[in-house]
This record gives sequence, C-alpha cells and structure tokens, in this order.
Amino acid sequence: MRHLSVPSKETSLWREKLASNGWLANGCGIHNLGEMRAIALNDRAPLEIEPFEIIELEAIRPTPKHWTERLDAQLYKLHESDWPMSHDQIGDVIVVKIPPQITSFSKEIGNALLEQHSNARIICADNGVKGKFRVRDLTMIACNGLATTRTQVKENGNQFWVDPGAAYYSPRLANERSTTIDCAANLSSTLGRKISVCDPYAGVGPALVPLAKRGDIIETIFGSDLNPKAVNLLELNLPGHWTGCIDARELSSELGECCDLLLVNLPHDFISHLPELLGLLQRGHEVVIRGWAILSLESLDNAEIQIRDVLSTCEIISLSLEPNRSYSPNDTYACIEVHLVIE
Ligand SMILES: C[S@@+](CC[C@H](N)C(=O)[O-])C[C@H]1O[C@@H](n2cnc3c(N)ncnc32)[C@H](O)[C@@H]1O
Repeated sequence: MRHLSVPSKETSLWREKLASNGWLANGCGIHNLGEMRAIALNDRAPLEIEPFEIIELEAIRPTPKHWTERLDAQLYKLHESDWPMSHDQIGDVIVVKIPPQITSFSKEIGNALLEQHSNARIICADNGVKGKFRVRDLTMIACNGLATTRTQVKENGNQFWVDPGAAYYSPRLANERSTTIDCAANLSSTLGRKISVCDPYAGVGPALVPLAKRGDIIETIFGSDLNPKAVNLLELNLPGHWTGCIDARELSSELGECCDLLLVNLPHDFISHLPELLGLLQRGHEVVIRGWAILSLESLDNAEIQIRDVLSTCEIISLSLEPNRSYSPNDTYACIEVHLVIE
C-alpha cells in the first residue's frame, strides 16, 4: 500500500491534512521509520504529494478481535447467527463445533481460526464424543504444521501429552485433580507413610502426572485404561510407573490389593463398576475411593444409598457426595469421596 513518508514531528499535522483532502486510508496504523513516519494513503490520493516521498509498505491493520472478522464480509452476513462463538483449545489444537447449515464453510472457518490464534497449529471440527472411550470424533479443517492432533498441554504447572482425537481428556477437570493431590497428602498423613494410588480409568493420566511428582507422599502409582491409544500416551506421561491396558473390572486379578487411594473417573458407570474395583484396595486400614459420577439431581439420595449398599461389608468412616457442577438441566457431575476400612 502507498504511504506518505513525513518527518516524525509533523505526523499529526500531515495526518490531518491527508484526512481533510480525503486521501487518508482509514483503519491503518502509522509505520515508525526512525526519524520519519509513513502514513497510509487511499486510492484517491494523488501520485505525488510535495515535498515528501511516497513509498510502498505493507499496511498495518489492527488485529481482528474475533476470528469471524477474518471471514469474507458478505459470507459472514449471510449466516450471521450461525457462526460458532466458542471453541476449545487443547495445546496447539483447536476444536470447534460447526452447525450443520455452515459445514460447507468449514475450510473458511478453519483458516480464519488458524490466522486468529497464532499459537494454534491445527483446527478440527468436533463431531461429538463417541463410544465407551469417550473420544471426540474430529475432522481436520485447517493446519499449518504437523497434521496430528497429538499435542502437549500444561495443567497446574504439569506438562503432558494428550490427543483429543484418540483419547479422552478434559481441561475442565483440572481443579478436581488439584483436590486429588490434597486428598492423597491427607491420607498419607493419616497413615503416617507414603501411599499407593491406582487409577484404573486413567486416560492419558492427567490425575496421575501431578501425583508422580510427589515422591514425598506417593510410594507407587498404577495407571490403566481400556483404550490402547490412551495407554500409549499414559506410558509417555508416566515413565517408570506401572501402566496397563485392561478392563478396570479385571484389574484386581492382576494387581491384587494394590492401593490406598483408588480413583474412579467413569462418570456414567461409577456405581455399576464399583463392586468389581473393591479388590484393588488394601485391607485392614483406612483407604479412600475418590470418584466422579453423573447423577440425576432428583436421585442423589438414592445414589448414596446404592454406594453404601455396595460398601455394606466395609466400615465407612465418611462418605461425601458433592454435586459440584451442572452436567445438564437434570443431571449433576458429582465428586464422591469415601473413606473406609475393608476388613
Ligand atoms: C471420563 S474418562 C477419564 C479419563 C481420565 N481419568 C481423565 O480424567 O482424563 C474415562 C476413561 O475410562 C476409560 N474406560 C472406559 N471403560 C473402561 C473400562 N471398562 N476399563 C478401563 N477403562 C475404561 C476410557 O477409555 C476413558 O479414558
């Protein structure tokens, strides 16, 4: 774009002159060229403006505040109320839900998001969470590097590998995982020794990675998942620790009574799997089950009765069921913590 190069002291004077003549290019920034400044000219400006030089420079345009401002203006207007207003960023992967009526513009959406977010490498359309492994069905719509959804994330100061297209991972549970560390520290203090932790639904291991750093309270870590792709990442994230790829309900036949703290993050099946997980807990002293379940708001009392029923042969020291977060209008995502002794 053509710019008029003027002495820096006369910048505002010349900016006003150009504007009053109708020659100023609107919305462009002013280049700093040391002692000179370059002011952008529009097409109506003449070829020469005495006594200064006109030079060709890239226009400085303000960065759009939202990626939709990067779409073609006519296209944007045509579907004004359809463009997705939110997306998730997991490491350098952005996943976005695209409404069916605008899927034919996926490429435009992907390119605009990629341009807007300089720390993104790949943009994927999110077609929803599928199957028992709770993995998102992703379609790549734009990419400026390696075409893989494997990426690294940082959570509470811990860095680890995830792959939103291959294994479950939700950054929204980061707070829950900090509380798990407090729970482990308290149990270690109660028992007066380091504890062993088992996470049979570990996914890529976001709950175990921070515990693996706590050699002061953790003796042994056992992490397993039924999704082989999750276990590949789990092994990367937990070098030197026990990892397995096995149905959680069969894990106790392999590991026996291995742990003091049992994590159960299988929100849709927490209660039904619980009976077959008890064999993983050590006997004769206080142990803790910390789990998460999606429960109907109306049936919280009933859920507690069911859990107590499963644990009827154990001494329950305490049982808390906190409906922490809303999952849907009728359901809550509850955190369950049971302190118990199995004789
Ligand atoms: C809600 S995700 C939790 C993953 C991980 N704990 C986290 O917080 O990111 C549930 C995990 O359980 C795994 N899974 C489902 N059924 C399983 C089973 N029968 N045995 C072991 N893992 C199972 C899934 O593959 C998934 O990774």
